[in-house]
Amino acid sequence: MTSISRVEGRLKVTGAARYSADYPVDGLTNGYLVLSTIGHGAIRGIDTTDARRSPGVLAVYTHADPLPLFGGAESGIGYNWLPLRDDQVRYHGQIIGLVVAETFEQARDAAALVRVDYASVRPRTSLQDGIPGATLPEDVNGEPPLLDLLADGVASIDQALDASEVVVTATYTQPIEYHSAMEPHAAIAVWRDGYLTLYCGAQAPQLAAGTIAATVGVDPSRVHLLSPHVGGGFGNKILTCGHPVLAAAAAKALGRPVRIVLTREQTFGVTGHRSAMSQTVSLGADRGGRLVAVKHDAYAALSSGGDGYLYEAAPHTTSRYFYASPNIHVGQRLVTLDVPPQTPMRAPGPEAGSFALETAMDELAVRLGVDPVELRLRNYATTYPGRGVPWSGKHLDECYRVGAEAFGWSRRAPVPRAVVDGEWLIGTGMATAAYPAARYRTTGKVRLQADGTAVVSTATSDLGTGMWTVLAMIGADALGIPVSRVRSALGDSALADNPGAFASAGTASSGPAVHAAALSATRALLDLAVTHEKSPFHGMDRNQVRYERGDVVGPKRRIAFGTLLGITDRAGIDATETSALGPERERFAFTSFGAHFCEVAVNRWTGEPRLRRVTTVIDAGTIVNEKTARSQIVGGVIFGVGQAFLENTHVEPDTGRIANANLADYVVPVGTDIPPIDVRFLERPDTVFNPLGVRGIGELGTVGIAAALGNAVHHATGRRVRDLPITLDKIL
Ligand code: MOS
Repeated sequence: MTSISRVEGRLKVTGAARYSADYPVDGLTNGYLVLSTIGHGAIRGIDTTDARRSPGVLAVYTHADPLPLFGGAESGIGYNWLPLRDDQVRYHGQIIGLVVAETFEQARDAAALVRVDYASVRPRTSLQDGIPGATLPEDVNGEPPLLDLLADGVASIDQALDASEVVVTATYTQPIEYHSAMEPHAAIAVWRDGYLTLYCGAQAPQLAAGTIAATVGVDPSRVHLLSPHVGGGFGNKILTCGHPVLAAAAAKALGRPVRIVLTREQTFGVTGHRSAMSQTVSLGADRGGRLVAVKHDAYAALSSGGDGYLYEAAPHTTSRYFYASPNIHVGQRLVTLDVPPQTPMRAPGPEAGSFALETAMDELAVRLGVDPVELRLRNYATTYPGRGVPWSGKHLDECYRVGAEAFGWSRRAPVPRAVVDGEWLIGTGMATAAYPAARYRTTGKVRLQADGTAVVSTATSDLGTGMWTVLAMIGADALGIPVSRVRSALGDSALADNPGAFASAGTASSGPAVHAAALSATRALLDLAVTHEKSPFHGMDRNQVRYERGDVVGPKRRIAFGTLLGITDRAGIDATETSALGPERERFAFTSFGAHFCEVAVNRWTGEPRLRRVTTVIDAGTIVNEKTARSQIVGGVIFGVGQAFLENTHVEPDTGRIANANLADYVVPVGTDIPPIDVRFLERPDTVFNPLGVRGIGELGTVGIAAALGNAVHHATGRRVRDLPITLDKIL
């Protein structure tokens, strides 16, 4: 496995890398959003007189004095409404105004002078209260919300459960969770001659540019979005949100560039989160530990102001494919709440779903007296349940074996509360990680240049994943030259067509496209070599020359591509290729797999849980760059530690206000919470999925962690906590 440092690392650690708000723009003005302070209702009156008179203020926009925006629920901004179009307040923290001033401070201070008179209605904020009235969605991103796979002669999943020798049933709950990327959302909009340039952190530059173009009412060819560095996204920078469209519209109206930077607190209302969820799982098994019935029903919150993007709220999908069972039922219902929008959040679906299913599997293991790893091996799926197709590559059994060996799982006490270390109770737990492997149609471009370097480009983003480095490495590998001679270009909507960086599909989508473009560039180079009259290979037969490690090689000589381009008066040679999954889509299932093993210590007197160590083994095909891949998995594990032990969103029932909308009170792990994490990659190339053999890893690492930790807490204490986060008050 190759392992290199990030090519843009120096830029980042020296502060030279520019993020959305950092671009120096002449004549820049600053916008500050005014957000609603009630949980539900309408604006009766909004008085902007004092705000308009405040120093430096250029404009105040509200629904009474709006900006022209176009589109509706399909706008792609993650809301089912457009900012400043009506007087409705859907949730606390909704955009209701925009103040633009010369400086940020002037805009912020003026925003505080906007006076709003509301007709307020008590918001719906509790998932539990809404469950009796939950509604069934029509579909969940094209999948049926309810699915029953039943063996012949079985009438219902409940009948299959009734016939099972052993049944465990439990309900698992979790609160709203926030991504809280280190870089708060921001946008700068600059119009010049009818063309819009946007500096805006985006996981999908072309998707964002298209959304903004439609919303401000211009042709997509007139919007250029730049997002070279993104300070974390985790799904929260896929959809565009309200601030860039308001920046764009205000900049157009004012004839000056506008920058809008969200405060940390504002990100909680303006951007998105993972829905609150309640999941009930029933597992029926025979005494030998073979699953007979799996029933997984989820209730998930749907924001009354969100755009209905439901994948995030679809944890039940997990039970569709984690284990083999003759009878599987998955279902989802939605509870509408007056809370800010839900949006994709790292491993949407399986992240929450695995907390429920993988805890239930542990409960079943305890009930049966079977080792949790052994239970999973007894229910190992070799074909995708209900489809009957094999996986393109699945070595999950090896993940269990390698992980158990490395972790020392065989030394585990068979019963809970057996190991004490001073004032700490020690327990171990494990869980499966699995996440669908996606690969989208993507175009890559490679340019060979006369200076002997190459540029690989595509319009994706690097949201901290390592894509800058990985693209250069894939280009260098295909061209047979050192990475130092390859520069990547991304984070720019004008580059080659790319869906963007989400669904852990980045490397599997962009990699093959860049690889194909590199090979195509070498073919174009050979064509040039035999056809250009100044070329030393001129007139030769095409099969007398070949490309080898940066050189064109003929019968008598070898010439570096840069030299050949120079001789032939070419600054460079370009190739563009598009790559996508083919008919194998029908014949295989594609999933990345892993296994987590962890040890926790729980304080006997305070109940405080501490993570002691983690071993994670990953089966995600070829690993292009071990260093950044490891960083992805470590980050995913830490994300899961936050979910398991710390993260909670406190929505005040009367006001719908998020009481802890800041990083002091929305608690996430810090360095001292995280021990060294042992990550191992099986590296079994999946060349059915794509020629590079890569599958996604970005979201995989967080799937299963909360369950593994909860299972370890149970092993340490005998206490089963089914409500996240697993905090000391629930353990004691
Ligand atoms: Mo991911 S939640 O698709 O960035």
